[in-house]
Amino acid sequence: MIHLGKVMVVFGTRPEAIKMAPVVNELKKEKDLDTVVVVTAQHREMLDQVLHLFAIKPDYDLDLMREEQDLFSITTGVLNGLKDILRKEKPNLVLVHGDTTTTFAAALAAFYEKIPVGHVEAGLRTRNKYSPFPEEMNRTLAGRLAELHFAPTDTARENLLAEATANFKIWVTGNTVIDALLATVKEDYKFGEELKGVNFNNRILLVTTHRRENWGERMKGIYQALIDLVEEFPDVEVVFPVHRNPVVRNLAEEMLGGRERIHLLEPLDYEPFANLMNVSYLVLTDSGGLQEEAPSLGKPVLVLRDTTERPEAVKAGTVKLVGTVREKIYAEAKRLLTDKEEYERMARAVNPYGDGRAARRIVKVIKEFLYVRIGAS
Ligand code: UD1
Ligand code: UDP
Repeated sequence: MIHLGKVMVVFGTRPEAIKMAPVVNELKKEKDLDTVVVVTAQHREMLDQVLHLFAIKPDYDLDLMREEQDLFSITTGVLNGLKDILRKEKPNLVLVHGDTTTTFAAALAAFYEKIPVGHVEAGLRTRNKYSPFPEEMNRTLAGRLAELHFAPTDTARENLLAEATANFKIWVTGNTVIDALLATVKEDYKFGEELKGVNFNNRILLVTTHRRENWGERMKGIYQALIDLVEEFPDVEVVFPVHRNPVVRNLAEEMLGGRERIHLLEPLDYEPFANLMNVSYLVLTDSGGLQEEAPSLGKPVLVLRDTTERPEAVKAGTVKLVGTVREKIYAEAKRLLTDKEEYERMARAVNPYGDGRAARRIVKVIKEFLYVRIGAS
């Protein structure tokens, strides 16, 4: 057996962990390569929840998260933290995921050590530098640094080609989030204490918000629309697992805390969360991942943003971009709560983001890449 070398997987936040877990677990099945997992811990509790669920034990943990972190401190923390690890481990490939500041800074650190980078979930674009901020540039810059581009869809591939990325460096693999989702959602799932108090006989509106560009007035508009909706519809409950970011948490508690049929919860483990999505009526979110997961479960999504780098489900008709204006969110949600035909039109399971086998495809490409490099050296 030829030893193919070492792959270092770097991630730091909840969504990266969920989407990288299937890749890590596929890599670990391969006996002819070594897998080293580094977490930056840009997130702490929300990252640990995922590591625990997917039984991933990191080899290195930079433990970066601070209460008051900003883009500068995360970027420099990742760069400085990875330097010695990269020099010691000398991986043949560094794998990063998506669009966070961990993603960009880890790709940059690998580049400084002249180590090739594989970018998972490559090629998504809004072409608006400030929306989502800073994710659009994080993903674009990580792409410029990468050698291997794992594009989830044909649209993402086209975006990369439009930036003159070489065709032979792009693979359309599907999104690994669907691998994670399909392994997690069970039709007979039993919820535990974490959803105590939720009346599942009512129609559940599943809500998440966290985007930086929505902080302040825009988030107030979103929360006010939620209040309007529960006041108008007595059979509706809002279930809102609140992101740990204090900017989000403080406003959510101030505006929504203590209200009837609005449940502000701690971030849920991925298992109850994905299964809650599966029994929800409607999803209202500014998250990226939920726009990919909900369509595959046949749940309509109202996206609380002005732009999306995930146009596929919008085109398919199961996701709608509604922005952050109170009246608009209220009107669009009301329509789905009252117009059965419109609801049925949106509540169709579509799978533009993958078939659950993305991680397998990615690992196959990585092995070929490592094999060719051995031959070349
Ligand atoms: C980050 C990413 C964003 C991603 C999101 C997913 C950047 C700049 N932002 O945004 O792209 O969509 O994660 O959720 O990369 N906190 C905790 N515990 C946790 C996690 C966060 O207390 O487990 C609090 C901390 O006070 C932390 C703050 O949230 O300082 C902000 O975390 P940060 O990673 O900077 O930004 P997010 O808004 O989470
Ligand atoms: N998620 C979770 N628990 C929660 C809320 C979300 O496990 O309480 C999952 C969700 O299913 C999706 C991911 O976290 O896979 C989305 O993360 P987030 O919204 O933080 O980031 P984004 O996708 O916007 O980058």
